[in-house]
Amino acid sequence: MSRLGVGRLSVHMKLSRRQFIAGLAGVATAACAVPAYARWIEPRWLSIDRVTIPFFSATAPHPLRVLHLSDFHLSRVVPLTLIERAVRVGIAGQPDLAVITGDLITKELHQHNAYVRVLRELTDRMPVYAVLGNHDGGRWARARGGYPDTHAVRGLFAHSGIHLLHNASVPVRHGDRTLWLIGVGDLWADEMDAEQAFRDAPGTASTGRILLAHNPDSKDALGDRNWELMLSGHTHGGQVALPFLGTPMAPVRDHRYVSGLNRWRDRWIYTTRGVGNLHGIRFNCRPEISLLELTEATRS
Ligand SMILES: [Fe+2]
Repeated sequence: MSRLGVGRLSVHMKLSRRQFIAGLAGVATAACAVPAYARWIEPRWLSIDRVTIPFFSATAPHPLRVLHLSDFHLSRVVPLTLIERAVRVGIAGQPDLAVITGDLITKELHQHNAYVRVLRELTDRMPVYAVLGNHDGGRWARARGGYPDTHAVRGLFAHSGIHLLHNASVPVRHGDRTLWLIGVGDLWADEMDAEQAFRDAPGTASTGRILLAHNPDSKDALGDRNWELMLSGHTHGGQVALPFLGTPMAPVRDHRYVSGLNRWRDRWIYTTRGVGNLHGIRFNCRPEISLLELTEATRS
């Protein structure tokens, strides 16, 4: 009996050892697979997010389709081929117009001519409006080894046919109505001039006013201005979204507006996760192409 007992114990120990080794192998595989996935799979796995936003207070003849792209971050870890793919997928959604909410580069503008060719694919098909981000040059970028001014990215926009709204506004025709796009300079670069940006935009109820601001935290400085929808980027959705912990890396004060469509007071804020990234990592936070459909707001 004691031998049987020892035998059983021996078999049990062998199985446990196998299970232990198998468990270790599983942990080791996961330890390698998760970083590999976060580095090589997810940052290039584009998501097309289609979102309906009740926007027009007056009767709209048909919805307005806006392609919202942001944070391309052309760099060593974000190839131009990813940006090109995002542009082409966005065009396939047949939007009426496109907006780009900043951070075209991370530090330096390489491949200027090739970048222009990619952006030209957009501007050949629809009007494109943009604002600058904190990485696009200026005070914030200079302090971190980037461009001291926004000359390079402004040149990229100019050669690509993209309309830069740097503290400026523009009327846009939609059917027989006019809506307004208002763009502000970047918050962290200390380039935001609300007075100038809103100077020409209508102050009373109109067909609609869309504010382009790279950083969603800009809302607090623009709360006394007239706009119904703010489109932002900057956060990259946090880049890493963890169970229970959320998005601790998101570079904003107000974490309610890290991604997606959210209400703020009586207005909307849409924050895209953007196309590119910093440091080449994304986890549970895929790069995003946003196709926004602006519809008539139903009144209750
Ligand atoms: Fe960014």
